[in-house]
Amino acid sequence: MNYLCVVPMSTACQARSDEIAERLGVSNLGLNGKPNHTHGDFQLLVAEDGLAIKKTGSNQKPLRVDFNTGSMAYRRVHSSRRNEAIARAVGIGKKSTVTVVDATAGLGKDSFILAMLGCSVIMLERSPIMALLLEDGLRRAAESDALAEIAARMTFETAEACEWIKRQQTLCNHVVYLDPMFPAKSQSALSRGDMQFMQEIIGSDEEFEDLFSCARASGADRVVLKRPLRAEGVSVKPTFSLKGKASRFDVFIREL
Ligand SMILES: C[S@@+](CC[C@H](N)C(=O)[O-])C[C@H]1O[C@@H](n2cnc3c(N)ncnc32)[C@H](O)[C@@H]1O
Repeated sequence: MNYLCVVPMSTACQARSDEIAERLGVSNLGLNGKPNHTHGDFQLLVAEDGLAIKKTGSNQKPLRVDFNTGSMAYRRVHSSRRNEAIARAVGIGKKSTVTVVDATAGLGKDSFILAMLGCSVIMLERSPIMALLLEDGLRRAAESDALAEIAARMTFETAEACEWIKRQQTLCNHVVYLDPMFPAKSQSALSRGDMQFMQEIIGSDEEFEDLFSCARASGADRVVLKRPLRAEGVSVKPTFSLKGKASRFDVFIREL
C-alpha cells in the first residue's frame, strides 16, 4: 500500500506506529516527518487516545471509530427496539437473544446499535485499514465505563466474509447482516462524511452479490441486506423490506 503512511503523534506512540506500519506494509514517517502527497494520499495518525485517518492536504475531519461521541452517543440515548428499523430487520423482539454476523462491519456503527439493543454481534471486516480503526474503537469502548457492557457483546475478526462463512459448519440460529459499499452515485447515504471518506480509502464493494449468495447458502435464519433507500433490489425477492431514513433493509427469511 503506497497511498497511506503512518504518522506517530508523540514519542509515546512511536513503537505502536512501527508495529502498525509493519502490519500494513507501509512507511512510518516518524515523529518529525512532514507528510505530503509523495508519502501517501492518506495518513494514519497514531495518537495516545487512538487512531484516525487523515486525508493529506485536507481540512476534512479525520476518520475514526468512536462509539462514545457524535451520532453514536445520540443513538445510545435515543434508540430503542421500536424506533430502529435495523432492530426489526434482524428480528429483535421475536427472540430473547439474536446473534448477528455483521459480515461488512466497516466503522462498526450498525454493529454497535445492534449490540446496544441486546444482540450478540460477530463483526467481520476484510480491509486491514478499516480493521485497525475498528479494533481501536472497540478497545476504547471496552475500557469505557459507559460502553463496556455493550462492547462485551461485540467480537471482531479481520476476515473476508465469504471465506469466514464457508469455514463455519452452519449459521443456523444466526442472522447475517450485509451493508456493502455501493458506488457513490447510487448510494444516497454515502453523501454523508464518514462513508464518503471510507469509499475514498477502500472503494466500492462491486462483488456484493457473491457475498449475498454466500450468506444465503450459510444456513442463517435470515439475511438482511441494507441498501440505499431507492436502490434496485437483488435478483431474489425479499420476504419483506423496512425503510429507514436513508436506507432500506431487505430481509430474506430462510424457508423451512
Ligand atoms: C458500507 S461499509 C459498512 C458500514 C457499517 N455497516 C457501519 O455501520 O459502519 C462496508 C464495509 O464492508 C467491508 N466489506 C465488504 N465486503 C466484504 C467482505 N466480503 N468481507 C468482509 N468485509 C467486507 C468493506 O471493507 C467496508 O468496510
